[in-house]
Amino acid sequence: MECRILSGIKPTGQLTLGNYIGALKNFKNFQDQGECFIFIADLHALTLPIEPDTLRTNSRDIAAFYLAAGLDPNRCNIFLQSHVSAHAELNAIMQNFLYMGELSRMTQFKEKSQKLNQEKIGLGLFAYPVLMASDILLYDATIVPVGDDQTQHVELTRDLAKRFNNRYGNVLVMPKAVVTKVGARIMSLSDPTKKMSKSDQKGDIYLKDNPNIIRKKIMSAVTDSESIVRFDRTNKPGISNLLTIYASIKEISIEEAEKNFINANYGTFKSAVADAVIEALEPFQKQYYEYLNSGYVDLVLEKGANRAREVSNATLKRVHDAVGLL
Ligand code: TYM
Repeated sequence: MECRILSGIKPTGQLTLGNYIGALKNFKNFQDQGECFIFIADLHALTLPIEPDTLRTNSRDIAAFYLAAGLDPNRCNIFLQSHVSAHAELNAIMQNFLYMGELSRMTQFKEKSQKLNQEKIGLGLFAYPVLMASDILLYDATIVPVGDDQTQHVELTRDLAKRFNNRYGNVLVMPKAVVTKVGARIMSLSDPTKKMSKSDQKGDIYLKDNPNIIRKKIMSAVTDSESIVRFDRTNKPGISNLLTIYASIKEISIEEAEKNFINANYGTFKSAVADAVIEALEPFQKQYYEYLNSGYVDLVLEKGANRAREVSNATLKRVHDAVGLL
């Protein structure tokens, strides 16, 4: 069997430069490595409160962003999670094979639940990794391209697959997280000790920001007083983050990026980072708007869901047989 690749993005808010560098921009490179399934994790978006119209808008946005990022519907199945009922069905079975202790130790759950009234933490938020494991296992995916913050969930998926296979034989395929070498964790520009995230703050660059805003945000990124452009995550988190952004956009190593700015002051350096980001995002945004305003997105999602149903239903059947469901 040729290898399968699966990944997804949750339509909870405006996509950031972090999503682009850590995930989106890399997806197209997997299209020649096997059959790709890249989806919009809309069921996951319901784990925190969201307005129906926002969810609808964000979901279509991500589909258009996928296309703008070079995903080709003839080489990659693009679909909405909620259009493929096997996700929810496998979730119902797999929730019996992950334990509450494990789920309560997930970093993302701890971070997200801390911000909520403890009496009102949804079960879906707690059980989030079960659905994510189901997403992955349904496609027999061996490669799961993600940013740093999702690797813990993929590890848990591996534990689950192992546990299930030990009990029922070789039913599930073992997945592996694949993380980009540079840029797996882009930090906020206003607080470089915090991850850049969709839900956040002024220091985050959104994929829909116009060039002036992008430049403004980068020029006012928090740095340090040393005035030397050098990579040092501990002592120079702001500069290191900007170097990471520059290197990943230019597709060069951090060392090469450092060399480009040996004698540069922070103003010159920031300006070059802004140029690089704008240069990459401008054509991407143009394509995004073109796709968004065409009827093409719906056709792509329909085609993708058809193929996704075929593959996921076959896995679901295997699991049903294994556990003894008639
Ligand atoms: P989500 O929507 O939070 O993020 C989508 C992708 O972007 C990456 N990412 C980042 N990478 C670098 N720097 C950052 N600051 C940054 N922020 C986000 C994420 O690591 C991710 O790869 N649970 C997933 C969606 C999902 C999924 C799946 C992914 C659901 N089922 C199955 C893979 C396989 C999520 O919430 O990603």
